[in-house]
Amino acid sequence: MKNIQFTSLSIAVFAASISTGVAADSVKTTQAEIVMKASFKDRGQAKVDRLNQDETQRLCSQYPDNRPKEIAKRIEAINLKLMKYPADGKLLGDWKEGEKIAQSGVGKQFSDDPAQPAGGNCYACHQLTKEEISFGNIGPSLYNYGKLRGNTDAIQKYTFGKIYNAEAYSACSNMPRFGHNGILTEAQIKNVTALLLDPDSPVNK
Ligand code: HEC
Repeated sequence: MKNIQFTSLSIAVFAASISTGVAADSVKTTQAEIVMKASFKDRGQAKVDRLNQDETQRLCSQYPDNRPKEIAKRIEAINLKLMKYPADGKLLGDWKEGEKIAQSGVGKQFSDDPAQPAGGNCYACHQLTKEEISFGNIGPSLYNYGKLRGNTDAIQKYTFGKIYNAEAYSACSNMPRFGHNGILTEAQIKNVTALLLDPDSPVNK
């Protein structure tokens, strides 16, 4: 009962802040967070703490549009600093494993087994190969990615880094931060990087 009262009170406060035109972005974010937190509960591995925003997410919520250049730069700098490259210096794994990861949308949901590896679900947002005709277009087509970019050390580093943490290169990207958020392991990111860059990969055929 208490929870229900809390929720409706929060919604009332939230609605009031809109109708009275309270402009401060931080106020809006706080009210939205209260409503969200009151609306969800822990279920399996999907815990309510997923709603806690880090500095990047907070800044992206505060500036959803017309984001000042300095803010975008700050977000990218924060995330570049957090980047972790493989200790062995090797950025390319096995593209065949990478293709399986790109195809798989399993993982991180309350019903998934947290002990099993997650997928990257890359096709949900990107075209990657000619063979797979079912893909989303939130992200740009990555077909021929390696052919167009080449396979230099700099491109390997950018590609691994982009998949590890997209925010380091494009503030408030819609792309998940696969390495930073522990969705994919380092070995899995190497495999997906190879899928994009290996000349034998169907991405480049
Ligand atoms: C929820 C959607 C989404 C998913 C899932 C996703 N991406 Fe992206 N990706 C994007 C968007 C949007 C962009 C363009 C904006 C940006 O650069 O961040 C992008 C950009 C990229 C780029 C940069 C392209 C360039 O021209 O430099 C690469 C590389 C990439 N994604 C690889 C991947 C891989 C590999 C996966 C799977 C492990 C993946 N993405 C999963 C949305 C997604």
